[in-house]
Amino acid sequence: PIPVIIDCDPGHDDVFALWLAAGHPSLELLAVTTVGGNVALEHTSRNARVALTVAGVRGVPVAAGASGPMERELETAESIHGENGLGGPELPEPAEPLDARSATELIADTVLGSPEPVAIIATGPITNVAIALRDRPELVGRIREIVWMGGSTERGNWTPYAEFNAWVDPEALALVVGSGIRFTMVGLNVTHQALVTPAVRERLAVAGNRTAAFGDELLEFFCRTNDEVFGLADGPLHDPVAVAVLADPGCFELTHTRLDVELAGAETVGATSVDLAGVLGREPNAWVATGLDVERFWDGVAEAVGRLG
Ligand code: BDR
Ligand code: CA
Repeated sequence: PIPVIIDCDPGHDDVFALWLAAGHPSLELLAVTTVGGNVALEHTSRNARVALTVAGVRGVPVAAGASGPMERELETAESIHGENGLGGPELPEPAEPLDARSATELIADTVLGSPEPVAIIATGPITNVAIALRDRPELVGRIREIVWMGGSTERGNWTPYAEFNAWVDPEALALVVGSGIRFTMVGLNVTHQALVTPAVRERLAVAGNRTAAFGDELLEFFCRTNDEVFGLADGPLHDPVAVAVLADPGCFELTHTRLDVELAGAETVGATSVDLAGVLGREPNAWVATGLDVERFWDGVAEAVGRLG
């Protein structure tokens, strides 16, 4: 299996990302780091541990990272995820405490301590990864690759032009994309195909375990808020799609292309510029997900949920 770190801001869909990473036989979840994003860091750091607790995953360290973006004020997404970031189910006490290390320290220890190159999958604003690369440059040659949920080849969701994770910390995104580490963007253009239809909910509930039941309560809430905010009653489950890039690459069409992020626009901050037609003549610097086998993706998620507690 590929050793992975998940950097996340749970968040309903982040929980499914954690579960896919923990439950899929092609991945070994070594560590989790949390960032302020969907809600404040105290909530995301607790919620990540709640997600692992519910699924019966023990012994995976969870460390808190940045409370907000590198250069901007944090704006959060309670309208989608609720006040505590995991609206819907009653949340159990986390079985394990937060790791005493910072996210940077945990990332560094995990990457440098692994005999196999470790991949990082980021499903929130990519602040923690940017800070780790800035402060520990020796990591650059040691990370297998970075896969990130965020951006889009098209338009945004949080502003007309920007996707939420890109919009929260575009400077961090620019730093990570510029690091030279293999980078894959999994944006709204594919995650908006991963819609939680009633049929998908049934498929995920079939396992009948605690994870599936808790997950279904999350999806109930998530679909309701996506309907209220975006008019999408079948909410798009963005974050596990990024995990699937490593868990089951056959689900994807990836395009090697030029990715830039808008840092200075009056209305377009956080917009991802993906030069699929190659009109800019710049060197490709990223892989971008341009196609998704939706059925195969959901099969993988359902199987992973079934393997958990
Ligand atoms: C992204 O924003 C967050 O609300 C979700 O968890 C996902 O990572 C989608 O734009
Ligand atoms: Ca997220």
